Amino acid sequence: MLKYLLLSSVFFLSCESKEKKETPSEVKSITTKTKGEKPTSANSPDTDYALLKSNCMSCHLEKMGPGQKIAPPMVRVQEHYKPLYPKRADFITAVSDWVTNPDESKSNMPGAVRKFNLMPKLGIEKGTLTRIAGALFDAEFQKRGAMGGKKDHAGLQLAEGKKKWKLNVSTMDQVKKMHSRLKGFSSDDVKAYSALGKEVFDGTKTIILDKQYKGKTFDQLHAFFNSIEKDMHTLIGATDLELAKKQVAKLVEKFSKFGNFFES
Ligand code: HEC
Repeated sequence: MLKYLLLSSVFFLSCESKEKKETPSEVKSITTKTKGEKPTSANSPDTDYALLKSNCMSCHLEKMGPGQKIAPPMVRVQEHYKPLYPKRADFITAVSDWVTNPDESKSNMPGAVRKFNLMPKLGIEKGTLTRIAGALFDAEFQKRGAMGGKKDHAGLQLAEGKKKWKLNVSTMDQVKKMHSRLKGFSSDDVKAYSALGKEVFDGTKTIILDKQYKGKTFDQLHAFFNSIEKDMHTLIGATDLELAKKQVAKLVEKFSKFGNFFES
């Protein structure tokens, strides 16, 4: 019995190595294909990731760094878009639409619009754009310093003399309304939660895009917004009712802190 086992494993081993030797081109082509889809090892000019690099990453650096002066790093774009569009096809549509026609009202990163100004329109052919957007979905960027690790309300602080930041009455009202809308919300339909997320996101977006808020007041508004935007995006992209409910609870909690830092 033992002899048989040994024999068969020797046979199996030799068979395997023989197979490898006999089909080098097939093995090679599989490896190349996998490589093409993995951004880290992609350096051939025709891979989708290389297209993303050459078309987009002159402005969008791969990750956070000192050179980040023109646009948010690609890892941030991915972090913002993936929770919103968890399905690859939806992600591709959203990113392609954006690149074809960047429009402030459609922005999912209004803080970046304020910081860097609106992305210019790029004339990229649709097929290429689909490949680029797909590569952005698949890319495995280093997650160091990623948004997800940020503590709640990181960077939020009071003004000098422990004073709250002054905002317009209408802004305070708007936030209060969003807070009560979230608090009172209940549905059995996950789509309704997604719509709620969109409503709240659009509301906070008008505040972030409001040019009357500048300097330190804007920085503080931005810090608050940063601390809730992932929750809003996850709520918009949610396909699971329980997850959606949890996101709303988180948002209610976070919105309840707004008045600790801002007043009219
Ligand atoms: C000329 C510089 C430049 C190039 C090239 C560029 N971008 Fe941008 N992009 C920006 C800036 C600036 C922003 C931030 C402001 C904004 O969101 O409009 C941005 C934002 C984005 C956003 C987030 C949009 C939002 O607000 O929701 C996406 C998605 C994006 N870029 C994708 C791409 C892709 C994909 C490419 C390559 C096909 C690309 N960008 C090439 C400058 C650039």
